[in-house]
Amino acid sequence: MKNLILIGYMCAGKSTVGKSLGKRLGRQFYDLDWYIEERYRKRISDIFAEKGEDGFRQIEYKMLHEVAEFEDIVLSCGGGTPCFYDNMDYLNRIGTTIFLNASPDTIVEHLKISRTVRPLLQGKSGEELRSYIAGQLQGRMRFYEQAQYIFDVNILDGYDKIDLLITQILETIKDKT
Ligand code: S3P
Repeated sequence: MKNLILIGYMCAGKSTVGKSLGKRLGRQFYDLDWYIEERYRKRISDIFAEKGEDGFRQIEYKMLHEVAEFEDIVLSCGGGTPCFYDNMDYLNRIGTTIFLNASPDTIVEHLKISRTVRPLLQGKSGEELRSYIAGQLQGRMRFYEQAQYIFDVNILDGYDKIDLLITQILETIKDKT
């Protein structure tokens, strides 16, 4: 049995979808950011403030390899995880990778109702925020697109839609689970 790994930009819905996928499959769900926060007893935003992005990426790399020791899990990664070091190749080796593809507009909408502090987006709003997201998303696409499966999540605006997406994902990857 393979691990199921969700990747995609911030606020695409990785944690929400991951949690539901875990429940539906009866598998343990891990969110890499939450795992890091628990292991280091620090918020992601504090790690960024203390060690900078480079320091965070090193920790993220180490923790990804630690989480990969678990078996048969559903893992949701941070938005930047696949885009550093050899992480994307590694993710493709240790599990079935699923890219949740959201447009900049969807990301902005999800961000409005999110309570998580995201250091890379902090202090930006309006058009500046939207164009930062659009630019970074474009730059990261070449990594995200290496996922084994890609799902459009621009319809994710309610729990019934999430259920529908989960059904669609499970149907598509049937032989891999
Ligand atoms: C990041 C995404 C965040 C978190 C960190 C950096 C990124 O995770 O890992 O703030 O570079 O896209 P989410 O995608 O869960 O917000």
